[in-house]
Amino acid sequence: MFVTRPLPAGGTDPLADPDGLGPPCEVVQRPDDEPLDKDGLIATLVQGFDGVVAVLTERFDADVFAAGKGRLRVVANVAVGYDNIDVEAATAAGVVICNTPAILDDTTADIAFLLILAASRRASEAEATLRAGRWTGFHMDEFLGRDVHGATLGLVGYGRIGQALARRAQGFGMEVIHHTRSPTGEPGWTHDLHELLGRADIVSLHVPLSAGTRHLIGRAELAAMKPTAVLVNTARGPVVDEEALAEALEQGVIFAAGIDVYEQEPTVHPRLLAAPGTVLLPHIGSATVATRTAMSQLASSSARAVLAGTTPPNALNPEALTFN
Ligand code: DGY
Repeated sequence: MFVTRPLPAGGTDPLADPDGLGPPCEVVQRPDDEPLDKDGLIATLVQGFDGVVAVLTERFDADVFAAGKGRLRVVANVAVGYDNIDVEAATAAGVVICNTPAILDDTTADIAFLLILAASRRASEAEATLRAGRWTGFHMDEFLGRDVHGATLGLVGYGRIGQALARRAQGFGMEVIHHTRSPTGEPGWTHDLHELLGRADIVSLHVPLSAGTRHLIGRAELAAMKPTAVLVNTARGPVVDEEALAEALEQGVIFAAGIDVYEQEPTVHPRLLAAPGTVLLPHIGSATVATRTAMSQLASSSARAVLAGTTPPNALNPEALTFN
C-alpha cells in the first residue's frame, strides 16, 4: 500500500492491524508533506502497488491508473470530496475508489458556522486592527456587522453537511431554506437558486464540485443576493467564480464572504485577498485531531477491505471490483 503523504498518528493503523481481513499490508508512506504531482504518482505506481491511500492534493486520471495497470486495485481518498479523481477512468481500469463520507460532517458544519459568524460580525478585520495597534478605543459606529440570530440561512445543496449546518442554525433562531435540483420533501426547499439567493441573508454552499457546479456562483448569482448578504464556501473553490466574488465585495454587491476553499489552492486570487469583508481560512473544514484521524483510518480500512475482496459501503464505484 502506498500512502502519498504523512497522516495523523494512528491514521494508517488499519493497514497493519491483523483484523481478520487477511495479512497486514506492507506500507510505503511518503515522508514528504507536499503534494505528489502526476509524474511522481506515475513513477511510484509503475513500481507495483496494490493500493493507494491518497490526499485530495493528488490527482488521479487515466494515465495514472495506466501506470498501476495489472496491480493497482484501490485508491482510498482521505476526503469526502473526490473531484481529484476521475472515477470513470478508475472503473475502466478496474480500480475501486473510496472516500470518507459522514465522519467529517459536524466538524465541517462547525467551520461553516464559524465563517458565518466571523464574516457577519467582521471578526477578522476587527482583530487585525487591534493586533496592528490601530484600535483607538470603543466607538459606537465601529465594525458594525450583521446579526446572525434570526437571519435567513440559504443552503445551496442539502446533503449531510448542509443538514448539520441547518441544525446549528436552529439554535440561533434562523429560518433555513435550501436549494437542490430534486425536491427534498423538507420544508424550505426551492428548486430556484436565484429565489434562494434573493431571500437569504446568509448563503452557504454545500455542493460537490462537478461540471454542473463549476462557477455555480458567478456574477449573476452574486447580483441576485442582497447587498447585506454574506456568502460562505466550505465546499470546493471552483464552485465560486473568485474574480466575480472579489469584484462583488469591492463594489458592495454583497456585504461579506467567509471562504475556506479556493479555485487554485494554495493560491488565493490576489483581488480576493485585498477585497473588503472577507474571512479567509486555508481549507481547514475537517481539521480537528479526531476528525482527520478518523478520516485517515476510514480510508486505510477501506483500502484494506478492497484488497481483501470485500466492498466497503464507501466505495464509489463498486462495479470496478468486477474488473479486478
Ligand atoms: C473533504 O473531505 O473533501 C474536505 O475538503 C477535506 O477534508
